[in-house]
Amino acid sequence: MMEFGRAFRMTIFGSSHGPEVGVEIQGIPAGTPIDAAAIQGELDRRRPVGRRLATRRQEEDRLVVDRGVRSGRADGTPFRAHVANEDVRREPYDRMRETPRPGHADYPARVRYGPEADLSGGGIFSGRMTVGLVIAGAIARTLLGRRGIEIAAFTRSIGPVTAEIPEATPLAELAARARAQEVGSPDAGAAAAMEAAIAEARREGDSLGGVVEIRATGVPVGLGEPFFDSVESVIAHAVFSVPAVKAIEFGAGFRAARMRGSEHNDPFVWDGRAVRTATNHAGGILGGLATGMPIVVRVAVKPTSSIAKAQRTVNLATGEAEELVVTGRHDPCIVPRAVVVLEGVTAVALADLALVGGFLS
Ligand SMILES: Cc1cc2nc3c(=O)[nH]c(=O)nc-3n(C[C@H](O)[C@H](O)[C@H](O)COP(=O)(O)O)c2cc1C
Repeated sequence: MMEFGRAFRMTIFGSSHGPEVGVEIQGIPAGTPIDAAAIQGELDRRRPVGRRLATRRQEEDRLVVDRGVRSGRADGTPFRAHVANEDVRREPYDRMRETPRPGHADYPARVRYGPEADLSGGGIFSGRMTVGLVIAGAIARTLLGRRGIEIAAFTRSIGPVTAEIPEATPLAELAARARAQEVGSPDAGAAAAMEAAIAEARREGDSLGGVVEIRATGVPVGLGEPFFDSVESVIAHAVFSVPAVKAIEFGAGFRAARMRGSEHNDPFVWDGRAVRTATNHAGGILGGLATGMPIVVRVAVKPTSSIAKAQRTVNLATGEAEELVVTGRHDPCIVPRAVVVLEGVTAVALADLALVGGFLS
């Protein structure tokens, strides 16, 4: 399905080498400010152009709002926006039609959709589809911001390099420091080491993965729907839709499995205004509902599958073993570009839950 959400319903459309990519959204409350310049700013964060470390596909990614906005505000009808695909080069993909790239969607997509499917540039499995997610995420953030909910994502690790971030760092400071670094990490020392690691992987014709951390503050206590639409379920659903995501954890996550209850339980305290918890191993979620503490999500992004090193594959027409060297323009590490995308889909997930639960009315 190319659609996500119940009250804030987004449908993404387009493909990597088609004329455009974009998003349609139903359920934006009429009167919501739609700041085209702010959305463009988010698209620019996703763009590879100007980034020393990324792919050299030259896309302008100019936002075009097609409908649903009047005088800078949502008019209550379905919203639609797109960006044109300009820098399309099909040749490298034509060569790969019969020889699926290891680690990419080519093989199962080819079996499912047949030889006529347009998988050029990855088709609908391309990272380019995330343009629509970023547009929707920017609008969702505006909605959440009106309720005092703030979201920021940053690069926690790339390859072997992990950023050290004091837990108490205010969200706005984290966001500003992360945006100042090309790799999107608030720890300047780690950011330099991450850049060096990516440059080394590129020189070797290889790629690196990493972890993106997303935090949301100001989330009202009780947000989330019982059972299947728990806060974790809805965020995970949105996050796993992003290409190259392989794992997710909330709060202590996999570490929780090695802790005792006495260690993992977050003691309740009264801070003079509200109930808080002294620690936040729960990552701001208990019983699928928000606790009011920051929601903390970590997402593992795999190393880019399209690498310049020779790899083993099979020719689907002949069944013969072949060696494949992927050409075309690919990022040696997509983690820095995934930051704004993961921030965006988390905002969409929370905005959807907030609308469903009546927290934005
Ligand atoms: C922003 C973004 C950019 C991406 N760019 C590339 C790329 O240049 N080359 C590539 O092989 N994969 C890229 N990917 C990842 C692939 O789209 C993804 O690995 C592929 O569709 C297979 O899906 P899966 O990894 O979720 O199984 C990108 C992903 C994102 C989120």
